[in-house]
Amino acid sequence: MTTEQELSFSRRPHAAPVAASERASRIADPGFGRVFTDHMVTIRWTLDRGWCDAEVRAREPFQLDPASAVLHYAQEIFEGLKAYRMKDGGVALFRPERNARRFQASAERLAMPVLPESVFLRAIIELVQIDADWIPGGEGSLYLRPFMFANEAFLGVRPASEYVFAVIASPVGAYFKGGKKAVSVWLSKDYSRAAPGGTGAAKCGGNYAASLIAQAEAIRQGCDQVVFVDAAERRWVEELGGMNIFFVFDDGSLLTPPLGGTILPGVIRDSVLTLARREGRIVREERYSAEQWRADAASGKLREAFACGTAAVVTSIGEVRSADGDFTIGNGDGGPVTDSLKAKLVGIQRGDIADNEGWVRKVI
Ligand code: COI
Repeated sequence: MTTEQELSFSRRPHAAPVAASERASRIADPGFGRVFTDHMVTIRWTLDRGWCDAEVRAREPFQLDPASAVLHYAQEIFEGLKAYRMKDGGVALFRPERNARRFQASAERLAMPVLPESVFLRAIIELVQIDADWIPGGEGSLYLRPFMFANEAFLGVRPASEYVFAVIASPVGAYFKGGKKAVSVWLSKDYSRAAPGGTGAAKCGGNYAASLIAQAEAIRQGCDQVVFVDAAERRWVEELGGMNIFFVFDDGSLLTPPLGGTILPGVIRDSVLTLARREGRIVREERYSAEQWRADAASGKLREAFACGTAAVVTSIGEVRSADGDFTIGNGDGGPVTDSLKAKLVGIQRGDIADNEGWVRKVI
């Protein structure tokens, strides 16, 4: 079986990459998740060989047997992180080892092989280096999507014996269309995202599949995102369809729901907690009910709320809609605490603000 040290990456660059002028037009205003670079990285895992066949190669469709386990039992996990063009022309990643470790935790939960952190990072860096010309300028970045799926052709229900790990890259702008200042959320009463003992803390496709009906409902209600409450009591705010949530109060303190197995441990969530604490703010990881949210918004005790994640960065929540009625947070257009935390985070990511935490990893 190949050991981590022995795994070498073969490089087969694209024979006909996208021409520079076409690439420039594709990345000028890429939106989110629709434009892709020339290459991808793939690594296989088999019971006999372990991690093997690591390749940097042209991005192309996979060939899958119709009996591949992922198509039937959803053994799939993924990550999301970004490469940023820095002021000095270099390129950096933000806390990529966090993504590597969360990927390992997700793999364990989904009974999949655990990819060594060094191999995860190497795969990311290889792809960023070969496709660096795809990183958009300005506020854009290169969104990296590592993922792994079970490709053993077998219909019995047990962990598969073959997997593919891959990384693709997508030049992106703002996650929310038009780079909205504040988004609206739909408080879902009928659907749960995760339950105790389930896969809520893992970044697996199944969690997102389970959230889509509620997200579709949110869109029908004219909202940008769904917000879930807990599955047991249906009162405690947990997270949005694809991002964590924070609340900001009139005394300058912050609150975010505690991790506990049903909430995704976001890298940006953790970074915001650190930045806010460094500012001397009181930050609580505590349960917060939907009723309290409504009451605090009405009384003015709650001043701001925001969503955060790799894709969404930090985005204000202006309005909450639900079957019990709608309410607005503050003036409905965000606020200074959210703006300043976002500016700090983005400033560190882009190299404009000193990285005192050692979060930024230069790769070019
Ligand atoms: C991310 O922020 O990276 C995610 O995976 C969320 C998804 C909604 C794009």
